Amino acid sequence: VSSTDRAARVVKLLKDEEWKTLLALEKASSVHGFADPGMLSRLSRQPPERVKFALEKLAARGVVSGSGPKYALTRESVEALAIREYVRRDQISALGAIIAKGKESDVYEAFDELGSVYALKFFKLGRTSFTRVRRKRFIDRAEIRSWMSMNYEAAEREHRSLRKLEGLSRAFPKAISHNRSTVLLEELSGVKLSERPELVAPQEALDEILEAVRRAYQSAKLVNGDLSEYNILSDGLRVWLIDWPQAVGTDHPNAVDLLRHDVFTVVKFFKRAYGLEVDESSALDYAEGTRNTSA
Ligand SMILES: Nc1ncnc2c1ncn2[C@@H]1O[C@H](COP(=O)(O)OP(=O)(O)O)[C@@H](O)[C@H]1O
Ligand SMILES: [Mg+2]
Repeated sequence: VSSTDRAARVVKLLKDEEWKTLLALEKASSVHGFADPGMLSRLSRQPPERVKFALEKLAARGVVSGSGPKYALTRESVEALAIREYVRRDQISALGAIIAKGKESDVYEAFDELGSVYALKFFKLGRTSFTRVRRKRFIDRAEIRSWMSMNYEAAEREHRSLRKLEGLSRAFPKAISHNRSTVLLEELSGVKLSERPELVAPQEALDEILEAVRRAYQSAKLVNGDLSEYNILSDGLRVWLIDWPQAVGTDHPNAVDLLRHDVFTVVKFFKRAYGLEVDESSALDYAEGTRNTSA
């Protein structure tokens, strides 16, 4: 059972005082890494006894780590807070099954009241969990803070990049929202190109990918930097370029190198998997905008 499954399970169970305590713990963690019940009582404006009781219940449910004087946030708490926030905003009403485990994230189906389906991406960067760490004094405060900011910032960056890309090509997934370590996305059908799905028109698929890369570069001023057959989905007809948290601006010192990496990786893959002969440097010139055709 993953942290997300545990988080989804407790979302329905937590009481108001437990949510208030969790929110206080999140606030405290971003500054101090840890919190004691006294601090959480002040931050959540709840009596100390109520906070202690809430913390014990949260710890028993595996939502926070620690006991006694020191408590720390876990993935479960962060993900529970995020799921609750989407529900409060009426963006989703239920979490479904896991769609895929990525390199840095788990992606789940999510549904709204009307039955529309979304993909909810949970970033899982850094250490797995602080839950099972017994010797609490050996957990580094800085480690918790950097773990939080790493995951929260990845979600925010991916959302921001996808917003910049919106409308530039139908090959970019729509981002609906982000919260904490998660991004809520349009659900895409299809499989990764690494699974070598049969494509109706491989050349057109490659053209659409290169055109999307070009639009990202020229109009959104973004380079994905991690583009490959693992980050492109296809249903045989359409293609989608996913996974944007690491995207950099075209003013980044490595932007051109990253663009070259993205273009060469994709062109080489299409050669290997679909037998297409496309000149790599012409494709790069096209993406960069120094040439107007990709072939
Ligand atoms: N919008 C989406 N709709 C459907 N499946 C998705 C979507 N985004 C990602 N996935 C699935 O989740 C996997 C991981 O997503 P990805 O964005 O590549 O993150 P990671 O950084 O973990 O690789 C993808 O390979 C894909 O199978
Ligand atoms: Mg990926």
